[in-house]
Amino acid sequence: MSKKIMIQGGKPLNGEINISGAKNAAVAIIPAAILVDGVCRLENIPNIVDVMVQLDIVKGMGAGVRFLNPTTVEIDATHIGTDEPPYELMRKLRASYYLMGALLSRYHKAEVAMPGGCNFGGVRPIDLHIKGFEALGAVTSIKEGGFVCVEAENGLIGKTIFLDVVSVGATMNIMLAATLAEGTTTIENAAKEPHIVDLANFLNAMGADICGAGTDVIKIHGVEKLHGGTYSIIPDQIEAGTYMAAVAATGGSLTLNNIIPKHLECISTKLIEMGAEVEYTDDTVRVTRTDPLHKTNIKTLPYPGFPTDMQPQMAIPLCLADGASVITEGVWDSRFRYVDELRKMGADVHVDGKVAVFNGVPKLMGAPVTAYDLRAGAAMIIAGLAAQGETAISDTRHIERGYDDIVGKLQSVGAQIEYVEVADEGGEN
Ligand code: UD1
Repeated sequence: MSKKIMIQGGKPLNGEINISGAKNAAVAIIPAAILVDGVCRLENIPNIVDVMVQLDIVKGMGAGVRFLNPTTVEIDATHIGTDEPPYELMRKLRASYYLMGALLSRYHKAEVAMPGGCNFGGVRPIDLHIKGFEALGAVTSIKEGGFVCVEAENGLIGKTIFLDVVSVGATMNIMLAATLAEGTTTIENAAKEPHIVDLANFLNAMGADICGAGTDVIKIHGVEKLHGGTYSIIPDQIEAGTYMAAVAATGGSLTLNNIIPKHLECISTKLIEMGAEVEYTDDTVRVTRTDPLHKTNIKTLPYPGFPTDMQPQMAIPLCLADGASVITEGVWDSRFRYVDELRKMGADVHVDGKVAVFNGVPKLMGAPVTAYDLRAGAAMIIAGLAAQGETAISDTRHIERGYDDIVGKLQSVGAQIEYVEVADEGGEN
């Protein structure tokens, strides 16, 4: 048996949703706990598959992992006994690459399986991570079976590293490796995403000495060891943005609690251009859309630009806006595979490489569609909510990787959406 998400669309969303902790911060902070001698208590942990896999990986390495309540977990890596994490779990998760930086920092050696995760149709390289480790003195080899081995026999020594492409993963991984290195590491042209600041704040709370996170120059002064402590993970920018895009597509009014307004500015600017109203308090945002949608153009860029992880979700209100809107993908080579699914629902979209033109149509119609990756899956849900009639979404496992109880949260604001068990149709696609 497998699961599908069934949606009866065409209903506005109204009410309140609590936003969970940030996936991309949590999947970096959990491996970062490997650097700590003592107990890390992490609060605001999202209940999503990627986080549970990351916790299983550190548990498989011998760390103590204990939930105090559904959103608070304690990790004690004081006595982790192996530098070889459970390979099969690692292959499931893109963010398992953070174990490289963490293990290298603590043990001066890491052998890890090449990471899995969302495939946007192109290659997701880790050459910049490796270049960073090598600059700090590690030697890398690729072993049979898709394993990467990084080793620094004499320990890591701080250096200045210039990233020729702005990379979230490389910035965080080098930060992890440098935390217990000798001397100072400077990352130039660093990524500035909120989860980078969150990782630095977590490490500093545990005794690291990192400054500049959130700017494009980060300095990491190596320290001898980290100590235990308590840390609360930031709210998920992309989860909040997904519900903002959903109410823009369906109409209605949603209040999102537990958000950081600054992180959502790039998204609300576009929603306002499309005709929505956006009002903030210190930690909530209300998005209301009553008037017809206007066209706009979006280009995805590293933070503080418009996030690539919001690109598929924002495409849905654009499918329904007046006139032609253009989305340019500025981060990944290819991230428009989902538009084939939208065409099944009546969308009028033309893709040429990194550019997609959405000619607005008066309505979308429900259809059977597939969630090809995490954010494409979220886009399918939004399309189903906005469409007339029934939408059935298959391959929902991608959505569960990154959204905490998305079906329950949407039901609570008036959506007619549910999981149904279906007999397997044979093979995955
Ligand atoms: C992270 C996010 C992902 C998001 C992406 C961009 C996590 C777990 N995932 O992915 O959801 O879409 O940031 O915001 O946090 N690149 C290289 N060499 C490298 C690494 C990256 O050329 O070694 C290129 C990539 O091909 C891409 C660009 O840099 O074009 C950005 O990638 P990066 O920021 O590293 O993405 P991830 O950290 O993998």
